[in-house]
Amino acid sequence: MSMLLFKIIIIGLILIINLIIGLLMLGSIIGHIMGSPFFPSSDKNVRKMIKLAELKDTDVVFDLGCGDGRIIFAAEKHCQKSIGIEGSFFVYLLALFRKFISNNKAEIRRQNIFDTKDLADANVIFVFLLPAMMEKFYQKIFPSLKNGTKIISNGFNIKSLKPTKTIPREKNEHPVYLFIK
Ligand SMILES: C[S@@+](CC[C@H](N)C(=O)[O-])C[C@H]1O[C@@H](n2cnc3c(N)ncnc32)[C@H](O)[C@@H]1O
Repeated sequence: MSMLLFKIIIIGLILIINLIIGLLMLGSIIGHIMGSPFFPSSDKNVRKMIKLAELKDTDVVFDLGCGDGRIIFAAEKHCQKSIGIEGSFFVYLLALFRKFISNNKAEIRRQNIFDTKDLADANVIFVFLLPAMMEKFYQKIFPSLKNGTKIISNGFNIKSLKPTKTIPREKNEHPVYLFIK
């Protein structure tokens, strides 16, 4: 009897793990349809991006397409207000779960980045978006940012803009770019 219970628990756990993996894959596909799939920044690049931002305790910080929230959770400790925007529902749930587990104060919103109304408040914006999305960001969001806003991009450049600073590609790591409006 106890062996049967053990088997049921193991099968249940395998099913739950498969369900979570399936939902995250679905979330990534939805993110891809929205513009960029869910692909988290490496821990090394998160550290580089946070360092490059030189965050102050008065800063308002956004991560546009925050994924599981790793960048915005790391930023939260060093700024006044931190907001992660995530459009894909299951990835958003993952970020909420991680926020709950780590008791982080960052705000996580389920929203399309292009519907975000308060980006003019930002001092720092983190992004890790595919080139076509970076171009759309430049066309649609960049003009509404206040002068001096720092944009820190993992992996992808903004074609029409010269970065203020570039951390070159390292082995297995994307380059990181700093732009200042
Ligand atoms: C490459 S991941 C980066 C995640 C996180 N910023 C990081 O660096 O670890 C891009 C994220 O952007 C989200 N995304 C893509 N297009 C979006 C849009 N239009 N609005 C909101 N989120 C979007 C995807 O769902 C995905 O989670």
